[in-house]
Amino acid sequence: MNDPAAALESLIEPAVAALHSARHVCVITGAGVSAESGVPTFRDALTGHWSKFNPEDLATPEAFERNPRFVWDWYESRREMIRRVEPNPGHYALAQLARRVPRLTLVTQNVDGLHQRAGSRGVLEYHGNILRDRCTVERVAASRSDASNDGLPKCAACGGLLRPDVVWFGEVIPAGPMLAAAEAAADCDVFLSIGTSSLVYPAAGLAECALDSGATVIEINPNPTDLSAAASIALGGASGVMLPRLLAALPPR
Ligand code: APR
Repeated sequence: MNDPAAALESLIEPAVAALHSARHVCVITGAGVSAESGVPTFRDALTGHWSKFNPEDLATPEAFERNPRFVWDWYESRREMIRRVEPNPGHYALAQLARRVPRLTLVTQNVDGLHQRAGSRGVLEYHGNILRDRCTVERVAASRSDASNDGLPKCAACGGLLRPDVVWFGEVIPAGPMLAAAEAAADCDVFLSIGTSSLVYPAAGLAECALDSGATVIEINPNPTDLSAAASIALGGASGVMLPRLLAALPPR
């Protein structure tokens, strides 16, 4: 088929049919889903003052050990930006899809909390959440103490130094989300890979696991990725457009 619009249309029907008969849908989302909300990717956010720095200066345990104040300044600026944005139609469509299928597991690589703000429940945060603090001593999510002798945020429970609760380069994925996501990818009958370049492991391995288990793998991305050729259905479009379309076409059960 030479007409790309017609080719895309012809893929909607099988994607909807797969979702309609699905028992368990597993979804992984990446930066592309938040792009339509105006959340820049990590690299795109390195503008102005921050353009002089590399991710290794800002998002590694070593950088934080060297200069926690500097790393906190960067994360505070990202938090401010994320608090100003809103979920987009893609986020809302996924929250609604969870109510239209028997089971849906949503795994996200995004740290912005926009899925939860759109109404998704039980989101598996593969790379953490930028709006949450974690105690470096107790290694758990923590609230802030009002007192600090050096201006750095401290744990209300133990007084230990707090850090952003995100997975930095070189760190492992938290065990809870990692195991739950692996289980869902192996169990699902439909796997949606949305707005991710499918380059960063172990997240990218979830689609491969779903393919190996015989699931129908549907990709939504305006650009081809490493997954596109292997996917059962590759929908070349924006998540904020394609997801509402799939939802609108999904017949009642
Ligand atoms: N709808 C769907 N996909 C989109 C859209 C859109 N509107 N806009 C862009 N994309 C796609 C791009 O084509 C690209 O394939 O989103 C993808 C974003 O890729 P990356 O920036 O590599 O983001 P992601 O795959 O989430 O990165 C994974 O890497 O930077 C680290 O830890 C960070 O969680 C992140 C991880």
